[in-house]
Amino acid sequence: MQKKIKVMTIFGTRPEAIKMAPVIKELQKREEIECKVCVTAQHREMLDQLLEVFEIKPNYDLNIMKQGQSLSEITAKVLGQIEKIINEEKPDIVLVHGDTTTAFAGALGAFYTQTDVGHVEAGLRTWNKYSPFPEEINRQMIDILSDIHFAPTDISKKNLLKEGKDEKNIYVTGNTLIDTLKTTLQENFNHNVIKWIENDRLVLLTAHRRENIGEPMKNIFKAIRHLVEEIKDIKVVYPVHLNKKVRDIANEILSNCDRIKLIEPLNVIHFHNIMNKAYLILTDSGGIQEEATFLGKPVLVLRDATERLEEMKVGNIKVIGTTEEKVYEETKKILTNSNYYKQMKKCGLYEDMNASKKIVDIIIKKYINS
Ligand code: UD1
Ligand code: UDP
Repeated sequence: MQKKIKVMTIFGTRPEAIKMAPVIKELQKREEIECKVCVTAQHREMLDQLLEVFEIKPNYDLNIMKQGQSLSEITAKVLGQIEKIINEEKPDIVLVHGDTTTAFAGALGAFYTQTDVGHVEAGLRTWNKYSPFPEEINRQMIDILSDIHFAPTDISKKNLLKEGKDEKNIYVTGNTLIDTLKTTLQENFNHNVIKWIENDRLVLLTAHRRENIGEPMKNIFKAIRHLVEEIKDIKVVYPVHLNKKVRDIANEILSNCDRIKLIEPLNVIHFHNIMNKAYLILTDSGGIQEEATFLGKPVLVLRDATERLEEMKVGNIKVIGTTEEKVYEETKKILTNSNYYKQMKKCGLYEDMNASKKIVDIIIKKYINS
């Protein structure tokens, strides 16, 4: 009998779980592959919620999360445990996703054991060291450590080529997030949040980035509160990230307003379907920009830069920064100028890419006889 290819996935946060779940499902389907799942639990509750939704049972759980964890602590805790696991399991390849500190430390741990690294969602760049922080540099470091780059788009492939990566190791696969979205959207979805909106326009808000915590986040929330008080037919729904620093600012500025609903993080099925009913999305998230482009929802990006350049080209995304004036002006413009809104209500990209299937096919082809 032919030896199986052993693939170990390492992930630990909400967005990684959402984007790695379809890859894991695809790995588990193939008889040529033995799939091992290692979670760091850089996020605990937000990860567990997804492991349950996607019915993924990890083989290893590093359980590292601590309230208020620093980047160095996350890196050190992952590195401290991962070497032993990789040495024992001896996978042919370790797969990491995106730009988190789990993904960086997982890739570094694999490199230290001289194990191949495959980077899912490779090649995204802002070329701005501190925006998003630390994700831009995590991405660059992971791509240096990687042997195979699974780039979601042509632009991400070009970025990798510009950095001198070997073209034969770069594959444009599409985005695994879209594989997930295709399984979560429901036609007759209902939820208390949708009932609460009634006939008003739903503005969906998320904000959690490290570089926004503090003054930028306060500015964003003040602008939003001001707008809700001024424009009477909008309601804002904000599933607040579990980071205490984020929750404190949200409670300070956005609570006690009957047209703003601060809620717990939503299960991804609920989030995707609520997003599908939104009129406008305000976010500093990366993944939500991609989902919104697929769903044809206008997004105002609460950051100084985006690495989602192909989404920018579609036209539904605008980076508006984090000053109170700019967030107020840009949000007011799109909510009050219907022609402008229609111009931004565009969708595109990622039709029928089957990214997870492509990724697994590439791994099988590369490792089956090696
Ligand atoms: C991390 C990623 C970021 C990603 C985000 C997705 C890094 C450096 N950052 O940022 O790229 O966009 O996840 O959400 O990898 N917490 C809980 N329970 C949870 C999750 C978080 O209590 O289930 C709290 C903890 O106090 C934790 C804090 O949130 O210390 C921050 O979490 P952390 O993973 O360090 O950073 P994020 O901002 O979530
Ligand atoms: N998401 C979710 N529940 C929520 C908010 C977001 O399931 O309450 C999903 C969302 O659909 C997207 C992902 O989480 O797929 C984005 O995660 P996040 O914004 O935390 O991280 P980023 O994408 O910025 O790294």
